[in-house]
Amino acid sequence: MERYILGVDVGGTGIKGGVVDVVNGTLVDDRKRLLTPKPATPESVAETFAELVRMHDWKGPVAAGFPAVVKNGICMTASNIEKSWIGLSIEKIFSEACGCPVVAVNDADAAGLAMMKLGIGKGRKGLVIVLTIGTGIGSALFFNGELISNTELGHILFKGDIAERYCSNIVREKGDLSWEEWGTRLNEYLTHLNKLFSPDCFILGGGVTKKYELFSQYLTVNVDVFAAELKNAAGTIGASLYAAERFNAK
Ligand code: BGC
Repeated sequence: MERYILGVDVGGTGIKGGVVDVVNGTLVDDRKRLLTPKPATPESVAETFAELVRMHDWKGPVAAGFPAVVKNGICMTASNIEKSWIGLSIEKIFSEACGCPVVAVNDADAAGLAMMKLGIGKGRKGLVIVLTIGTGIGSALFFNGELISNTELGHILFKGDIAERYCSNIVREKGDLSWEEWGTRLNEYLTHLNKLFSPDCFILGGGVTKKYELFSQYLTVNVDVFAAELKNAAGTIGASLYAAERFNAK
């Protein structure tokens, strides 16, 4: 059985990796980060991915959290990456680039898994909606702890566009929104999701939740909202936990 898996979180802005002990769900080396190349074509991202694997001096199994709908290792959508990714096997491209076996999973599903298995979501029953707020907004739905994958709640129509273009962290940064302005937007979005899904709680992840105390006061939606404690490491750890099941089932 594979105990150590290099987890790589491919984001719209950065590509981060760390070796994970999948039995304990802990990082066992220092996480490293490279900038996501622009444009984020399959060739350029695969090159950066391979570079990160080399930086870890790694030859074992690799897990890739990827910012798109991922079905059987294939990239099905592309909102914050180049459109040429669509229809390609992420697993094949990354594996050929780094020379290691690779399993790919949606980045928010990966982060959500870590939060539900090891973090604030542990043992939570009912419907839990995990949202990762970064360049885009990713989502992971759990019912009684079971993942319903590839949900894309950042792409529901809201205020005349897709929701992530209204309240992602990039929108806050680029639009120079105050915490109050942005927190209010996020609250409107959560209120809308609450009407549609009536979840038992929301768990928010992504780097911006390190500053949770600056905007939590604006989240008045009538359901529990928690900030994930695993922060950025959730994507790396969760991708490895997901991949462990695939690698060990082979
Ligand atoms: C993508 C999702 C991804 C999220 C976070 C969205 O734009 O469509 O697949 O999970 O960004 O990276």
